[in-house]
Formats: sequence, C-alpha cells, structure tokens
Amino acid sequence: LKILMAASECVPFAKEGGLADVVGVLPKHLARMGHDVRVVMPRYKRVDRERYGLKQLPGVLVVPMGVIGNQYCGVWEGRIPGSDVPVYFLEHEGYYGRDGLYEMNNEGYLDNDNRFVFLSKAALELPKMIGFEPDLLHAHDWHTAAIPVLVNTTYAADPYVGGKATVLSVHNMQHQGNFYEGLMDVLGIGWEHFTFLGLEKDGETNLLKGGLYHATVLNTVSKGYAREMQTPEYGWGLDGVVRERAADLFGILNGVDYDDWNPEVDPYIAARYSAADLSGKKLCKRDLQRTFGLPERDDVPLFGMVSRLVKQKGVDILAEAIHRILALDVQFVMLGAGEPWTHFFFGDIKNAYPDKFNLYVGYNNPLSHQIEAGADFFLMPSAFEPCGLNQMYSLRYGTLPIVRATGGLDDSVENFDGKTLSGTGFKFWSHDAGALFDTVGWAVYTWYNRRDAMEKLIANAMAKRFTWEDAAAKYEELYGRALRKRLGEKT
Ligand code: ADP
Ligand code: GLC
Repeated sequence: LKILMAASECVPFAKEGGLADVVGVLPKHLARMGHDVRVVMPRYKRVDRERYGLKQLPGVLVVPMGVIGNQYCGVWEGRIPGSDVPVYFLEHEGYYGRDGLYEMNNEGYLDNDNRFVFLSKAALELPKMIGFEPDLLHAHDWHTAAIPVLVNTTYAADPYVGGKATVLSVHNMQHQGNFYEGLMDVLGIGWEHFTFLGLEKDGETNLLKGGLYHATVLNTVSKGYAREMQTPEYGWGLDGVVRERAADLFGILNGVDYDDWNPEVDPYIAARYSAADLSGKKLCKRDLQRTFGLPERDDVPLFGMVSRLVKQKGVDILAEAIHRILALDVQFVMLGAGEPWTHFFFGDIKNAYPDKFNLYVGYNNPLSHQIEAGADFFLMPSAFEPCGLNQMYSLRYGTLPIVRATGGLDDSVENFDGKTLSGTGFKFWSHDAGALFDTVGWAVYTWYNRRDAMEKLIANAMAKRFTWEDAAAKYEELYGRALRKRLGEKT
C-alpha cells in the first residue's frame, strides 16, 4: 500500500510525548512489511537540517488557506533513521520557526489553529509535488484531524487525494483543537459543515470532532481506551460522536521499541542485566541513588516516575498522597516537567524530605532509562491513559509498575495475586489519593515481607513483550478495512 502519514511529532526529530514514538516507529515496521509509507510533519526550529542530512526539494508548495490567502512553504526531505522511510518537512518560518512545538511558558501559541490547519492542508498538497498518490491517509490527533474532513470536501475532486480512505488515530481525547468559529473560513469547507453533526461544538470549530465524523475508520491506542472514550467520564464532550462511530472504532495497543528499551544492551544505564542475572540492576539502583543524591541503600524500596507533570498523569492525587507515602521507609525519584505548580510543589517536597525524595525538572532521555533500570517500582497514577509507554518499559526492566487501572495501563499490566503469585504489577481503580496510597503501601509491604512474591513478579514482568511487529500487523488489517469500506461507499 501507499500510505501518507501526517503528524505533529515524530522521533527523533521532534517529541513531546508518546505520539512521537508511535509516528517514528510504526512507519518503519510498515515499510519492512513492504508498504510504501511516507511521513509529513512541520520543520520546527529544533529540527536540525544538517544533523539529519535533510535535502531541499525543488519548488515551493502553495497552500490555500481560505480567507488568509495562499501560504508558501519549502519542503525538505529526510529519512527516519535506520530505515528508508521518507519524511517531508514543511518549512514555514512564520508558523514553525520558533522554539516550542505547541507552546511557550506553558501557554499554547495563539495561532495553533492556523499552524495545524496549514499542516493538514500542506499534507494534501504534497502528493502532487512529489508525485505520490497515496491509497490511504493516516492522521493522528487533532493536529491533523482536518485531513479526513478535507479529503471528503474541499479536496474531494483532487486527483491525488480526493475521496481516499482515511484513518484517524486518537492518542488523546482531551486535546481537540477547538477554536473560534471563523476557522471554518480558513478551512474553506463551507458553513454547512458547521453543525452539531459536523465540526461545530459549543459554538466553536472543533477539528477532532470533524475528524471523528469524516475518517473512514478510527482507532485509538488500546482496547480499554476505545471503550472508555465512548463514556462521558473519558469522552471530554465528544463521547456521543465516538458512540455514533463505534462500529468503525478499533483499539491497537502501542508497541515498544525493544532495540531502545532493553536492559541487556541499554548504553545509558550503569550496568546491563537480564531476567537470568539481576545483579546489574542492583548497581543501577545504587547509581540512581547517587545521581539523585539519596542515601545509597539496598534495603529500601525505590520508586520512580517519568512523566509530563500534568493532571492527566495523576500528579494532583500524588501531591495529596505524597506526605503519607514519604512517611514510610521508601525513596522516590521523579523526572518530568509540566504545569508550573508541580515544579514548586514537588520542589518543596524535596526540601522537606532530602533523604527520601528528589526530582529533576526537565526532559532527559538518558535519565529516563536510568530510572527505569534503577527503581524497584514505577508509578503511573493516571486519570486517563490511552496507552502509556513507561509501564511497558518498566515491565521489561523488572521495575514493577503501580498503575491506575485505566486505558492502556489496565490492558498491559496484570494485578498481583498474593495467592497464585501471578501478575506483573499493582493496580488501583478509584482515582483518589487514598487508593493510590493504599496500593503503594501494598507494594511496600510486599517488597519488605514477601521476597518470594517480588522475585516471581519481576520474572513475570520481564517476560512480557509488546512488539511493534504485532501492532503493525494490526494496523495493516485496519488499513485493509478502511480501503474496503471506502470502496463499498463508492460503489
Ligand atoms: P504521553 O504521550 O501522554 O506523555 P506516554 O507514556 O505515551 O505518555 O509517552 C511518554 C514518553 O515520553 C515516554 O517515552 C517517556 O519516557 C517520555 N518522557 C516523558 N517525560 C519525559 C522526561 N521528562 N524526560 C524524558 N522522557 C520523558
Ligand atoms: C498520548 C497518550 C498516551 C499514549 C501516547 C501514544 O500522548 O497520552 O497514553 O501512549 O499518546 O499513543
């Protein structure tokens, strides 16, 4: 198949979260399966042309932006490292020539509407320029959710993309790209689509809603979240739309790039180790304690957390429970950045418990590997989690995840059963500080008093695999479905 994938993030070029991992890895596997897949994304300021050996294509892409008029951009071509997958970078100084992907000082850019409508439209203009007629277009999240809409409307008669099958992957229902109503005139698709059964939501133009209605098929990144997003609790006001499309909605759990996340070969960690020989993990724990300036002790359970520090990730209930947690004989290291209050709050916690708690504010990939390897437990108390990657990394590193049973966390972690010694981690259901504390307490109790159970859990966890081979095969199936459905609609 010829597949054009459009997204706002892709590793290694630009990453804020797991979306980048998916867009960077899935195409590689599809290409190995014989598909001609190409990626299009913005050339943000941080995408270094020299470092990635980008080459500029001749010509200029003309992108009609409705009432704004035509916009022009250059296109640079690169490859996803370790593959032949072409990535086309849209170079528009006005939209992308800045430091952040989406925001500055925790405030979203005021022109994100135009920046990502531009991305969606430029993705549809690109095929003509590069002479590539895709069989299918795959969009991700609200940033490119306008693509399925445009393919059915403004671009319906386009010889390259008109009426093609589209897939929209939802990685997060909270962020929908809802903007002022006038964005309709930038999209240029006609106000008849500004209705309850179209792009209108509470008087605004909602790009995700448009995509949910128009994509040939929909998917999200776990079966659990596919169910949850149809409920008011998790649907962020669009659950009704998702319910209407339930027959076309699928859940495909993300995979792990085990070339990158494998304690047997990980170059970032102090010592390599395997399920058969865990002695290296002890050294990693010592190293992590040293890095974070905590007492170097083997006889204390060490908790780790790597996360965007936002409400989605449960930092509010953690803040409520943290004093009780740190009253136990435990250590806790945290890596992340996010809502400003978290930096102050957890900074104060560090000052109050210098022997027990420390945090690193910022983004740091090597350190995230060191936490996965050195900690005994990994905490993910998410309010919602479409998939989540770190719990899967944790399993591979024998670092038992403690998760709220939601979305992909629920699907990928099995709860510890004290009688049969089955399970791969510890789960809790209600999203509150009490449940979080009780479950941490249960893990601490198990660590101190049930070495047999701990060893069994670690072995169970390290044997689990979530491969991209499996996930990519499911995407292939999904693409087939989309094509058949499109064909059925046309005939
Ligand atoms: P989300 O996309 O919602 O942030 P995921 O679990 O899917 O959640 O993906 C998060 C990814 O970002 C993981 O690969 C994680 O290791 C990484 N990550 C998040 N915060 C940091 C950080 N501060 N430093 C390094 N890596 C981070
Ligand atoms: C989103 C979700 C996360 C998921 C990631 C990749 O950022 O919050 O749970 O793993 O997308 O699909």
